[in-house]
Amino acid sequence: MKNVLVTGGAGYIGSHACKALKAAGFIPVTYDSLVTGWKDAVKFGPFEQGDLLDRAKLDSVFAQYEPVAVMHFAALSLVGECMQDPGLYWRNNVAGSLSLMEAAVAAGCLDFVFSSTCATYGDQDNVVLDEDSVQMPINAYGASKRAIEDMLRDFEVAHGLRHVIFRYFNVAGADPEGDVGEYHRPETHLVPLMLDAIDGKRDALTIFGTDYDTPDGTCIRDYVHVCDLVDAHILGLKWLREGKDSRVFNLGTGTGFSVREVLDESHAVTNRAVPYVEGPRRAGDCTKLVSGSQRAINELGWEPHRSNMKEMITDAWRWHQSGHYEG
Ligand code: UFG
Repeated sequence: MKNVLVTGGAGYIGSHACKALKAAGFIPVTYDSLVTGWKDAVKFGPFEQGDLLDRAKLDSVFAQYEPVAVMHFAALSLVGECMQDPGLYWRNNVAGSLSLMEAAVAAGCLDFVFSSTCATYGDQDNVVLDEDSVQMPINAYGASKRAIEDMLRDFEVAHGLRHVIFRYFNVAGADPEGDVGEYHRPETHLVPLMLDAIDGKRDALTIFGTDYDTPDGTCIRDYVHVCDLVDAHILGLKWLREGKDSRVFNLGTGTGFSVREVLDESHAVTNRAVPYVEGPRRAGDCTKLVSGSQRAINELGWEPHRSNMKEMITDAWRWHQSGHYEG
């Protein structure tokens, strides 16, 4: 059995990746500070609590588990927060990733799968966002992820750190078996907030901006089912282990949904209307982010077969009704 070090393995996407890694015959070793993650979500392999900036702890974890690869999910990822406190994002995401990459190189662990984001592209209306699109982030979160991508390229040239970079579009849904799901505190993401509003766990949803240049005035996003997303990571890991070249892949489906369309689909799935009010725009939001790429499908053989809005909301709703983490 091969160990894979999963930073952020106690978070939403990382915990789903741990489940997929275990199913693929790897042992996921979670490294997580629990600042935003949940110990309860670590169910599929060993857990080491630590911060990315704690180089001594990272070195000891690499020495103990001798992982064959790193999957690096750990990051702060809130667009609103990064506009208020950009230093937090540069320190945690960029300096933290630098510490991790240096530890990986020192340990001779040279296959690296990295969670990047479509937020690195910025707000480019009417442009197909494929992997060759220019990266012009409009917020510190996107800028921090772009900087890490740059570091990875430099580390490959200098140290042979081979990498697959995945630029996520909007991730939604939950494990259909209910082992893990999406649970953030504070919650800022559209789908869980909407489900909370539907069953009265919080006030009406505020639609952030209804005057965007889109057909119904609300922002458009490309939503990917979290299980499809982590499937791509397993394929990316295999890609590296087969000795293929470092590569960037978008993970989106090419179909955009407006905020109002997501609300309508939630109504259809849950049979309950989403209480909402219309509010002003949220700082840092892009008008439309839709992936224009088929690269992951063509080259990795990725099949995002669960990424339709009905299935994502059905799985998120099941998780929402059945549970959450305590600690
Ligand atoms: N939205 C609302 N009301 C809410 C919450 C969200 O109208 O209460 C809207 C947002 O304005 C946006 C859409 O719903 O148009 C989706 O918002 P999310 O907060 O769910 O997701 P984001 O698109 O802001 O962010 C996601 C990831 C980030 C990533 C970003 C890329 O969470 O990590 O996509 O822009 F950076």
